[in-house]
Amino acid sequence: MPTNIRSYAKINIGLRIGSRREDGFHELRTVYQTIALHDVIRVQTARGMGIEIRCKNPKVPDDETNTCWRVTERVLKALKKRAKVSITITKNLPVQGGLGAGSSNAVATMVALEKELGEQLEPAQRLAIAREVGSDLPLFLVGGTILGIGRGEQVFPLTDLQSIACVVATPPIAVSTPKAFADWDEKFERARESKGKLTQSNGSGTIDEFSTSVFSWLMGTTAGVPAKSGDRAETPLLDLVRAGIENDFERVVFPQYPELRDVKRVLEREGAKYASLSGSGSTVYGLFETAEAAEKAAAKLEAKGVPASATRTVDRAEYWRDIWIG
Ligand code: C5P
Repeated sequence: MPTNIRSYAKINIGLRIGSRREDGFHELRTVYQTIALHDVIRVQTARGMGIEIRCKNPKVPDDETNTCWRVTERVLKALKKRAKVSITITKNLPVQGGLGAGSSNAVATMVALEKELGEQLEPAQRLAIAREVGSDLPLFLVGGTILGIGRGEQVFPLTDLQSIACVVATPPIAVSTPKAFADWDEKFERARESKGKLTQSNGSGTIDEFSTSVFSWLMGTTAGVPAKSGDRAETPLLDLVRAGIENDFERVVFPQYPELRDVKRVLEREGAKYASLSGSGSTVYGLFETAEAAEKAAAKLEAKGVPASATRTVDRAEYWRDIWIG
């Protein structure tokens, strides 16, 4: 029996870029949030050997460069199993859109493959495989609201925040993540000069500011001023604006692709309580107070020719409950 599983997308709520490390990666601080938009992954095992990937989207590779392939090889090795593994990816999410789709597909494959093989990896083994394959995989082993540090691969579950409406707009622009990091280095030279230091000053302020913003946000205060009763939004996700959480990639990506800044402005004009680039883009998202407002904003963007969907955030309990399709 094949296993069908939902492969949810993520957005980044704030992302601070630190210095380039010895290994070439950048030190990061981010909060990941899973959302309801998803691809579907179907995994089937049979006797024999080999990996087969099927996807109607020609942008998705069907060879060993696919993250699903790389995870499958490692899971089989770790569990000391032999099997012929067929993976079918039904794509709804944009490829390379800042929504972590490829990373999510890989983790969904891992979870489905364990079920197919009738054996689970230890949590530490799962994490080791996820980290090895990419910085954005481990978050999908947690789901909900997650703190990401290191190169984004060290993940810690945060208090789950109540689901709220969200609009995800992905203009058809391929933003290269390695290039966005390189542009960041070039633009903020001082970051390179202070290589190796975690809390250096760079063009965006400091990584320390991220801790302060997240602390203020999650503790319900901003700038040390306690929120008055009734002042705090019912939905803590919407307190973000006052906490001043930002995505550093906007500072290198928006000047290059001004149409992405325009999308953020449309979302704000349409009533988003918070709008931001996700990862290095090209996805721009907005968080809304009501599903109706989100749907109206998505329709407005679509009318302007920008692919957009109204969705909502997914907390950890829902993530793990609804991941299984059957
Ligand atoms: O880990 P992942 O495959 O997602 O990273 C893709 C590329 O993005 C890396 O090869 C690196 O150039 C860049 N990157 C980085 N710092 C990070 C994450 C990614 O420089 N924290």
